[in-house]
Amino acid sequence: MAELSDIVAEARDLFNSIKDSARLEEAKAKFLGKTGSITEQLKGLGKLPIEAKKAAGEKINQAKSEIEVMLNARRDFIESEKMAARLATEALDVTLPGRLPQRGGLHPVTRTQKRVEEIFRSIGFDVADGPEIETDWYNFTALNSPENHPARSMQDTFYIDGKDSSGKQLVLRTHTSPMQVRYANIHAAKYKGHDPMPPIKVIAPGRTYRVDSDATHSPMFHQVEGLWIDENISFADLKGVYTDFLRKFFESDDLQVRFRPSFFPFTEPSAEIDMMFTEGPNKGRWLEISGSGQVHPTVVRNYGFDPERYVGFAFGSGLERLTMLRYGINDLRLFFDGDLRFLRQFS
Ligand code: PHE
Repeated sequence: MAELSDIVAEARDLFNSIKDSARLEEAKAKFLGKTGSITEQLKGLGKLPIEAKKAAGEKINQAKSEIEVMLNARRDFIESEKMAARLATEALDVTLPGRLPQRGGLHPVTRTQKRVEEIFRSIGFDVADGPEIETDWYNFTALNSPENHPARSMQDTFYIDGKDSSGKQLVLRTHTSPMQVRYANIHAAKYKGHDPMPPIKVIAPGRTYRVDSDATHSPMFHQVEGLWIDENISFADLKGVYTDFLRKFFESDDLQVRFRPSFFPFTEPSAEIDMMFTEGPNKGRWLEISGSGQVHPTVVRNYGFDPERYVGFAFGSGLERLTMLRYGINDLRLFFDGDLRFLRQFS
């Protein structure tokens, strides 16, 4: 039978040579397992006479606990080595900035719309919203574009599968002008019997649709409609308000505005509004910015107002165009490609 002290020494040497925990558990079995050398020693006790048994048993148990202590020490050593190695390789730099949650931003056209709303609100205009799927009446007929009128072909229309109550096919509104009639109808009903009628001052921004697509046209785009109706207003009032709006919008006090004769079925006379920057890259060039005009008497009647008494001025401007000029963007398709590299510049 091997000496207990030899067994303990063997265990010490073996444990100290081992560097991973799985092999250490195998080594443990060699001494303390079912057929381990310490276990064998304990089994041998049975053969000894009773007095010798006690003394030998104590010695074996002492050797056994020595081995257990060495085993635990080695386990701790291997674990701490492992931790030290991990700390060295998986370094964590707590001074690095944290990852912030991604923030959304407003689309540049939405920014323009909000800016336009703010400016017009500041001079007493209401802001109205209306449907993008329109009836033939509001989009065309009420605006003095009867069926088969050549003016209808000025606007390439998207038709919708679906009919209105008079059996006419529904359309995606080709402009925000139907909001003139919708808003004025509600106003006329609300103030029925008032004399004089309270004036209307409203803008109606929103999405519009036409069959058109290139660098300056998108099948979906945005317009803002403006309408001002009262008894004694003139083209000069429209020009004053619109010029003031443009100067505020572009933050340029000496921006120039001119009215150029044009045609729209719902206004007479009609004018294109052109503007000219007096500084910057577009300095000195006249740029078309809006359609406008005095509301046609037929349309004023369709509002529910007496055209002998009330005059209306309207304009319709493209929000993409205002945005492009403000930020110097040259391709309208950028607005709708959804490329974050482009969009992030505005948030
Ligand atoms: N609705 C016209 C367009 O889409 C613009 C316009 C609005 C013109 C109001 C005159 C008055 O082109």
